[in-house]
Amino acid sequence: MNTHKVAFIRCEHFNAAHRLYNPKWDDETNYQIFGKCSNQNYHGHNYHLEVKVIGFINPDTGYVIDAKSLSDLITKKIIDRFDHKNLNLDTKEFKNLNPTVENICKVIFDILRPELDKDIELKIKLRETHKNYAEYPG
Ligand code: NI
Repeated sequence: MNTHKVAFIRCEHFNAAHRLYNPKWDDETNYQIFGKCSNQNYHGHNYHLEVKVIGFINPDTGYVIDAKSLSDLITKKIIDRFDHKNLNLDTKEFKNLNPTVENICKVIFDILRPELDKDIELKIKLRETHKNYAEYPG
């Protein structure tokens, strides 16, 4: 019996550079607020992404979602878009959006959500450092 939904999690990672920066403020104020993450020549992170899909097990396959198709979707929509990129300079998503781990996490959700079946719940976890990660929806 399908009494509870099941979560299936796919982990991927990508490397990207960024600078935390608010154009309303001068460099000094940005540095005061964002610290080293506002270094004007950018810096990189190894981002660890967890895509959690929650739904009922399909009785025919035993899957909540086909792992290969989910992996292909993440590669095509997220990894190819952000891996080895400068988020501020190379991506349209962060031209006018500060690439904090919170914002990157939400952007990834907003890209993937329309690609998945409406019956499947989606949660994104994005780890930026050993000490910091974001989840969306929170
Ligand atoms: Ni940073």
